Amino acid sequence: MKIAVSGKGGVGKTTVAATLSRLLARDNFKVLAVDVDSNPNLGIALGLSPEKANDIVPICENHELIHERVGGEGGVYKLNPKADDIASKFGVSTKDNVNLLVVGTVRVAGTGCMCPAGALIKALLRKLILEKDEIVVLDLEAGLEHLGRGIVKNVDILLVVLEPNVKSIITAKRITELAKPLGVKKIAGIVNKILDGEEKEKIQSFEKEIGIPILVTLNYDPLVFEADSKGIPLLDYSPSSKVVKAIKELKNELVSYSRLSR
Ligand SMILES: Nc1ncnc2c1ncn2[C@@H]1O[C@H](COP(=O)(O)OP(=O)(O)OP(=O)(O)O)[C@@H](O)[C@H]1O
Ligand SMILES: [Mg+2]
Repeated sequence: MKIAVSGKGGVGKTTVAATLSRLLARDNFKVLAVDVDSNPNLGIALGLSPEKANDIVPICENHELIHERVGGEGGVYKLNPKADDIASKFGVSTKDNVNLLVVGTVRVAGTGCMCPAGALIKALLRKLILEKDEIVVLDLEAGLEHLGRGIVKNVDILLVVLEPNVKSIITAKRITELAKPLGVKKIAGIVNKILDGEEKEKIQSFEKEIGIPILVTLNYDPLVFEADSKGIPLLDYSPSSKVVKAIKELKNELVSYSRLSR
């Protein structure tokens, strides 16, 4: 199963991706967490020290590797480069044995990314063919760029994280509208930072407006923010919080979805 976590900036993608990855790993799945953000911080959310996280060179900045695999002389690139060994060669082990791959992101104008780094990243995601106990969790950069570059084309589930506010709902709607024609098998929402009393009816109206089911809601919890400001993973800082419990529910839903669709 390949799961991508998308949404507007700051809605909680990395918090969800990291916690979900570790919970899946604790259920004995082999989890590869992929940071596809130009400002990568999934490593810290997975419990790496800032120094260790900082030492990782994102794949798209590994010019030697890109040159070796994709070429590029005279503007001619291999569009189908070898990429199946990259996760095992460049992955870094984090808490609960989650393997972290920092890919970074490539800035390109338009949709048809032909740059060498883009070609390698796309091949990497396409070639991550999984055994049945393997799961990939992609922590995407905020916004819509990944959909334009087809990065999410090969995922089984696209999770769209949103907050209960107009701007993030509009972003969720745009993500959904761009992802549907790409053939993403399942798109589902997560509403984060819900305040007490803001419940059911609101969620139903989001489902209607965005056109996707909401799988889970996470309440606003100052401890989540506190954990983040201290650089401690939520799962270690506040393991019995409601937010962690809700992400466990999400994990269970995703696992049963993957079993049903197999
Ligand atoms: N349920 C919550 N309650 C309180 N604060 C939260 C909650 N979820 C996330 N946050 C806080 O919101 C901020 C953004 O979270 P996070 O980094 O996970 O979002 P993101 O979508 O990955 O952001 P970016 O777009 O910058 O990558 C962090 O300070 C985090 O601690
Ligand atoms: Mg993030």
